Amino acid sequence: KRKIIIDCDPGHDDAIAILLAAGNPNIDLVAITTVAGNAELDKTTLNALKVCEIAGIRNVPVAQGAGQPLVRKRETAADIHGDSGMDGPVLPQPALSPVPDHAVDLIIRKLLESDGDITLVPVGPLTNIAMAMRREPAILPKIQEIVLMGGGSFGNWTPAAEFNIFVDAEAAKVVFESGVPITMMGLDVTHQALATPEVSGRIADIDNPVAGFVSELLIFFRKTYQDVFGFEDPPVHDVCSVAYCIDPSIFQCRKLHVDVETKGEFTYGMTVVDMLGVTGKEPNVNVALGLDHAKFWDLLCEALQNYAHL
Ligand code: BDR
Ligand code: CA
Repeated sequence: KRKIIIDCDPGHDDAIAILLAAGNPNIDLVAITTVAGNAELDKTTLNALKVCEIAGIRNVPVAQGAGQPLVRKRETAADIHGDSGMDGPVLPQPALSPVPDHAVDLIIRKLLESDGDITLVPVGPLTNIAMAMRREPAILPKIQEIVLMGGGSFGNWTPAAEFNIFVDAEAAKVVFESGVPITMMGLDVTHQALATPEVSGRIADIDNPVAGFVSELLIFFRKTYQDVFGFEDPPVHDVCSVAYCIDPSIFQCRKLHVDVETKGEFTYGMTVVDMLGVTGKEPNVNVALGLDHAKFWDLLCEALQNYAHL
C-alpha cells in the first residue's frame, strides 16, 4: 500500500480526491490536513470532516493547518466552489472533530516517525508544506515524493497563474526548490480529467450515498465551470494527484525544470516550465502533461463502488 498524506482545501475536487484515496485498496491514507484556499480555513476543515463522515472514514486524523498564506493576503475561490467552499450537496454537521495537533506538526511527526515511505499529496495552496519544511528540515529526506496539484503552462486565476500556486507562491517556491522529488499535476493535465456527461452518468448509476454525494458535487462544479470559464465539462483537478499515486501509468510525464515566479507584474504565481531545456538547469519536477481518460475514470468509479457497505 502506498502511504499518503492529503493536504487540501475542500473544495469539490479535493473532496473527490479524498474519496478516491479512501476507497482504493492500494492507498493507506495516513492523514488529512487542511489549509485555507478555496474557502477560509474553518470552512475547508469543516468540509474535510463532512467528507470523512459521509464516507465512513473514522481512523484518519484530520488536522487543521494554516489560515493565511506566508506573505500575501488570503484569496478564496467562492465563484467556483461557493461560499462554503463545497456548495451543492447538503450534509449534516459532522460528529467528527479535528485532532488537536496543528497540521504542520502532524505532517512533521508522521514523516519523522516513518521509514521514508510517505508521499505528500498537496492539492491546495502549499502553505502547510512550506512551513513544515522550514520548521523541521529533517523531514526533507523522509518525504518519498510530493505529488501536488498546481501550476501548469497557463493560468486559471490570472492568465499566467493557477490558483493553488498563485494563492501562496512564496510557499510554492520553497517547495519547488526543496530538492524533494516532485510530480506536478498542472492544468495541462487536469484539464483533461473532465467529468463528461457520460462519466457523470456512470457515477449517478452507482447506488450508494458516497457516489450520490459525488454526483451532487459534480452538478454544482459543472455549473460554475460553465458560468465562469464557459467549459462544457468540469475538470476534477485534485483527483489527478491521488490517481497518480495509485497508478502512475495513467499519466504521461516529462522531467523538466520548473521555477515559481514570485516577482512578476503579470506573472506572479506562474510555474515557469522549461519545456525545451533552454535554461540548462537540472530537471526538478516530473511534469504530467497527458492522461488516459478511460483508465482515470475507471479508477474513480471502482473506488466509489467500494462504498457499497454504506
Ligand atoms: C485548484 O484550485 C482549486 O479551486 C481546486 O480545488 C484545485 O485544487 C485548481 O486550480
Ligand atoms: Ca484544491
